[in-house]
Amino acid sequence: MSHSPAAEAARRRTFAIISHPDAGKTTLTENLLLAGGAIRAAGQVRARGENRRTRSDWMKIERERGISVSASVMTFDHDGLMFNLLDTPGHEDFSEDTYRTLTAADAAVMVLDAAKGIEPQTLKLFEVCRLRDIPIVTFINKMDREAQDPFALLDEIASKLALDPAPLYWPAGSGGRFKGMLDLRREKFIPFAKKGADGEQGHPEPIAFKSNAIVSYLDPDEQGELADGAMLVQEAAKPFDPQSFLEGHMTPVFFGSALRHFGVDQLLEGIGAYAPPPKNVPAMRAGEETHVAPGDREVSGFVFKVQANMDPNHRDRIAFLKLTSGKFARGMKLKVQNTGKQLSVNAPIMFFASDRELAEEAYAGDVIGIPNHGVLRVGDSLSETGTLRFAGLPNFAPEILQRVRVKDPLKAKHLNKALQGLAEEGVTQLFRPNIGADFIVGAVGPLQFEVMADRLANEYQLDVIFEPSPYGEARWIAGDKADLEDFQGKHRSGMATDIDEQPVYLAKSAWEIGYAAERYPKVRFERAKERA
Ligand code: G4P
Repeated sequence: MSHSPAAEAARRRTFAIISHPDAGKTTLTENLLLAGGAIRAAGQVRARGENRRTRSDWMKIERERGISVSASVMTFDHDGLMFNLLDTPGHEDFSEDTYRTLTAADAAVMVLDAAKGIEPQTLKLFEVCRLRDIPIVTFINKMDREAQDPFALLDEIASKLALDPAPLYWPAGSGGRFKGMLDLRREKFIPFAKKGADGEQGHPEPIAFKSNAIVSYLDPDEQGELADGAMLVQEAAKPFDPQSFLEGHMTPVFFGSALRHFGVDQLLEGIGAYAPPPKNVPAMRAGEETHVAPGDREVSGFVFKVQANMDPNHRDRIAFLKLTSGKFARGMKLKVQNTGKQLSVNAPIMFFASDRELAEEAYAGDVIGIPNHGVLRVGDSLSETGTLRFAGLPNFAPEILQRVRVKDPLKAKHLNKALQGLAEEGVTQLFRPNIGADFIVGAVGPLQFEVMADRLANEYQLDVIFEPSPYGEARWIAGDKADLEDFQGKHRSGMATDIDEQPVYLAKSAWEIGYAAERYPKVRFERAKERA
């Protein structure tokens, strides 16, 4: 097998799963790992999770609330392809984290609950994928339960997402009458296994739809219904066009039951066949616009996530680097573009489902974890020359701003450091008002404050109190220098700086920002910031 960076990149499939909570993302993740041969029996992801959670206090929140807070990546080699599955938090309070993770995904699987169709969080995450031109594969899950009419589900995809659904399979019934599905391209029927008295029976082999053997699975009415449905959908829906999918206009649609491991092999095969390998990434080099191709010699990548204390036994901080080009080898030296700092990457980690392993080599599309002590930040661009810069990952203006105080005043300095660390990880945002000693912490949702309080207590032994702040909105300000100085001079009590020392205007309300923007037309009040 060739080991050229281009050939290796071409066999990478790096994707994320997006869904509304409860649609079955965790179950599907587990069953994809099973289908890919990364784990041997279903139940391991959860078991491992439980195991880790009992050792890690901050994960208590995950367990108690039954939500997934931490994003991670899992890698498996299957059918000649290397799959990197990026896990994203399902709860909307962590949408910023999910957004950043999606910047590292080359494709996304959208999981829908067959009874519920497109739910609010599905829609939000879909919009992020569309913004970033990420092609979407649709998996309609829970067909073993009473489902909506599949035509209605396709209509919903078309009308709510403005995406052409192209089913590659067509279901025979749902719930108690779910019999399996027809592979529309190969005209083969894939029977759904029944639960026998002694537990689950294996799924029977696919059979030709037009063979006599079909009578063992479908009675004549069911056969007729499936044949009609399949004919109708093939007339009504556009045929699957891989190019249209890559351009984000079309989504191939799969059906199944993640819980019963039905349709998952077909989904994985579809991801392998149609999801794109990593593509060229626009970048800047020495002030010039350029493109980085996966097959380029120079190793490069960007940090899309930083996570501290993943394992309390090692007080480490791991930066997740999505490689964009070259052949990475352990021990290699990479430079951070904006700070110029050089890093010897001696202990890069790849996350195989079974465990973390040292990565000896990796290629574009792969995600490696780099343990570090605060050198790497979210949005950093790394390369051998240190001259490449990828578009930054934005920070969004937080929706909740609170004052944070530590109960023991002697620990104020300690708090400063801990808050800085968490802000660098992207858990919350930190603003230092120009007047006064308190810090203002910003977040998108209330759960982020809970995670933060929990982590401050467990990882930093800091007992903190969050209090309401007088502020309701934060905006990064930029623009004409003289006007900016004038504005800052007249709004001293609302001025603050973020962790990059960039000026931020903290206002009581959106109305106040509108008012200021009217009076200072040459000052921009920005809702999103990319690190300079
Ligand atoms: P999430 O990560 O998207 O939040 O969903 P998760 O996989 O945790 O699944 C949510 C619930 O839906 C779980 O049930 C899970 O077993 C169930 N589920 C997932 N896929 C299927 C499917 O294909 N068919 C059916 N019938 N159920 C499915 P739960 O009762 O909330 O949790 P648990 O007690 O089973 O763990």
